[in-house]
Amino acid sequence: MGDGGDPGLFATIYSMRALRRFRPDPIPEETLFQLFDAAIRAPSGQNAQDWRFVVVTEAAAKARLQGWAEEGWRRYQPELAAHPERIDALPRPQRLTLRSVAHLVAHLHEAPAVIAVLGLKGRHSTPGGSTFPAVQNLLLAARALGLGASVFNLPMRGGDELRELLAIPDTNDLYCLIPVGWPLDRPGPVRRKPVKAVVYRERFGERWPFAESQPDEGWGARWRA
Ligand SMILES: Cc1cc2nc3c(=O)[nH]c(=O)nc-3n(C[C@H](O)[C@H](O)[C@H](O)COP(=O)(O)O)c2cc1C
Repeated sequence: MGDGGDPGLFATIYSMRALRRFRPDPIPEETLFQLFDAAIRAPSGQNAQDWRFVVVTEAAAKARLQGWAEEGWRRYQPELAAHPERIDALPRPQRLTLRSVAHLVAHLHEAPAVIAVLGLKGRHSTPGGSTFPAVQNLLLAARALGLGASVFNLPMRGGDELRELLAIPDTNDLYCLIPVGWPLDRPGPVRRKPVKAVVYRERFGERWPFAESQPDEGWGARWRA
C-alpha cells in the first residue's frame, strides 16, 4: 500500500499534516477500502454512524470542484489570488502553507480522489461531533498508508450546485471535502501552540505547572516516523 510500514499511532499523529500536492496515480481499491474501513471505526453519538462518504474520481466532477475552489480562493484571499507572487514575500510558514493551498486550488482536478464527508441533518445535538471523529481517523489512516490528505473546503463555494453534482439528499449535510493522493511532499512534523497555552487546570485560564515545564515544541521528537 504505502511505501513504508505503518509508522505506529504516535508517529502517525505527530507527522500527519495537510499535504496538498499529489502524483496523479490512482489510489488502488484496497487502499481506499482500508481508508474507509479505518474511518468508520470512529465513535458517533448513539453509535448512529450517520456519516456518509462520496468518493469523487471522475475528471469532469473534479474539474467543477476545482472551479469552485478557485472562486473560494478569490473570495477568501482576493489579494493573493490576483497577485500570486505576493505569497513569496510572506514569512516562511505562511509562505509554504499558502503556496501549497494555491497549488491545490490550481490542481484539484489532478488529485486522484476527493472525498466528500456527509452526515444526517438535525439528528445530533452537536453538529459535526458525530462526523469529524471519522474524518480524523481517515486522515490518520491516510498518513499511515503513505497517502497525503487534508480537509479542503474551498470548493464548498459550490453550494447547491455542489450538492446537486454529488446527488446529496436534503436529509444530509456536507461537512467537508478531503482531496487524497500519493503525496509529493513529505509528512510532518506539525507546528502547534504548546499544550500549556490551551489546557487549563480545573477552571478556564488556570495554569498547569507540569505543562509549563515542558518544551514548547512538545514531545514530537520522541515519535519521529
Ligand atoms: C474544518 C476545516 C476546514 C479546512 N478548510 C481548509 C481549506 O478550505 N483549505 C485549505 O487549504 N485547508 C483547509 N483546512 C486545513 C487546515 O488549514 C490545516 O489543517 C491546518 O492549517 C493545519 O495544517 P498542518 O496540519 O499542515 O499543520 C481545513 C481544516 C479543517 C479542520
